[in-house]
Amino acid sequence: MTTPNLPDAETPDLAGAVNLADLEALGRSRLDRNALEYYASGANDELTLRENRAAFARLKLRPRVLVDVSQVDTSTEVLGLPLRSPIGIAPSAFHGLAHPDAEVATARAAASRQSVMTLSTFSNTPIETVGEAAAGRLWFQLYLCTDRELSRGVIQRAEASGARALVFTVDAPFLGRREANERHRFALPPHLQVPNLGTREQLARMETDSGSQLANYFATLVDKTFTWGDLEWLHAQTRLPVVLKGILTAEDARLAAEHGCHIWVSNHGGRQLDTAVSSIEALPEIVDAVRGKVEVYLDGGVTRGTDVVKALALGARAVFLGRPALWGLAAGGEAGVRRTLELLEDEFRLALALCGKSQVGQLGPELVR
Ligand code: FNR
Ligand code: LAC
Repeated sequence: MTTPNLPDAETPDLAGAVNLADLEALGRSRLDRNALEYYASGANDELTLRENRAAFARLKLRPRVLVDVSQVDTSTEVLGLPLRSPIGIAPSAFHGLAHPDAEVATARAAASRQSVMTLSTFSNTPIETVGEAAAGRLWFQLYLCTDRELSRGVIQRAEASGARALVFTVDAPFLGRREANERHRFALPPHLQVPNLGTREQLARMETDSGSQLANYFATLVDKTFTWGDLEWLHAQTRLPVVLKGILTAEDARLAAEHGCHIWVSNHGGRQLDTAVSSIEALPEIVDAVRGKVEVYLDGGVTRGTDVVKALALGARAVFLGRPALWGLAAGGEAGVRRTLELLEDEFRLALALCGKSQVGQLGPELVR
């Protein structure tokens, strides 16, 4: 399949991008309205979407000086997996809307940068194919279906494909209302599949309903009855560590840790509950509540190296990129995602040095005001 308006892997534009905003502009320019509105939208007034960025901007850094920063080491580990820098890729649906190489391009980029990719249940590429491309650097994001047998099969496939963690998304019993997608009736183009669920036909039927095709499909697919007690069932299905994605309060963080789960602080990029707290503002109470018993990650609004510094200083082990990876993918496929990761890592390394830190382990809350 070829898509004429997409660039070759290495365009001058890509190399000329000096920050993630440049890549976003380039990526946006390659997308049609249907894809662009799906990727860009937040729920309702998009207050949380904007607040994710604004809250990072409000935090000020307190740098130290006269420290030897001739060698800066950005490396870390997530669940025992060594990362070149504490930056991974968040799960997002339908990479085929951005580039014909879809999730394979994203996975290859993550692997080549020694990062980690979280594959969405709603990928356009089968788990097995992405697993191969990710070369061991794969986590799998789970949406639990009302049909538990279907989900059990998906979990087993993820495990067999080399996924090293199961990221269970808990902030979306229903999809938030992204009004542009309602207005313009977002739909998956007919050439794209949802092979992990094998339900292109079901999806197609939703096209006759009003509003966003995905929101309608999601409402019929996802289990809304699942509660804390059911996590025992989930643990019994897999030997993989379970990460709960979408935690925003100390209360739920404590419950997550009690149930043997790691924590991914997120408001789903402002796409679910509008006016929910920004993820960077939610982070401190969560870190405080779990006291190092489990790993804590964060996503939402991370676009600058200083954002990574702030999240780690406030106790996150790593951050994850949602839209920035999609913009990179749209801008230039595998090379575009690689450029996204490379630019952010370079910014992070410089920010560490300018804060007077030579290792991620030296980051602490005293750095942030
Ligand atoms: C998402 N997100 C998401 N999360 C998830 O658990 N499963 C999914 O399938 C998707 N799909 C998805 C599609 C698109 C287009 C976006 C933008 C986001 C949420 C994602 O994992 C992450 O939480 C946010 O994107 C993080 O915010 P930023 O980095 O986009 O600001
Ligand atoms: C979204 C879903 C699929 O945010 O997580 O669109």
